[in-house]
Amino acid sequence: MFGLFIDDVLRGTSRLHDISSESAYIGIALFDRSIWGQGWATRMIRKIVRFAIGSLGLKKVLAGIEKENIASQGAFNKAGFRPNQLLSHDLKVVVSPSPRL
Ligand SMILES: CC(C)(COP(=O)(O)OP(=O)(O)OC[C@H]1O[C@@H](n2cnc3c(N)ncnc32)[C@H](O)[C@@H]1OP(=O)(O)O)[C@@H](O)C(=O)NCCC(=O)NCCS
Repeated sequence: MFGLFIDDVLRGTSRLHDISSESAYIGIALFDRSIWGQGWATRMIRKIVRFAIGSLGLKKVLAGIEKENIASQGAFNKAGFRPNQLLSHDLKVVVSPSPRL
């Protein structure tokens, strides 16, 4: 679990889950709506991917995103994630880039 602190106030969290020897899923929620659309999620996702691959030694990080969640798709897309597979009707999985460590 990771926290996003701005001016010492917790604005959101992100976590790695379903961690295996090769991969993990990432989830993120910024509960301070006043900071949405400023690139915080994109930066947080990038940092956690670097940690997951560089420090945990995973090969990839995945995220499951609801199709109608445009903001989430925007953040993961800007962080370099690309569509991987369609899990179900409304959930698509995106996969991390190979980050420059
Ligand atoms: C999803 C969430 C984490 C995004 O956080 P954020 O800090 O606002 O994201 P970023 O600013 O890094 O990037 C969002 C991108 O999507 C774009 N975007 C947001 N809403 C959009 C919309 N309705 N239409 C098109 N693009 C949109 C933003 O403009 C931005 O891209 P840009 O910088 O090129 O303009 C945040 O909205 C949130 O916590 N939502 C509630 C929980 C949630 O949905 N979590 C994700 C579950 S997978």
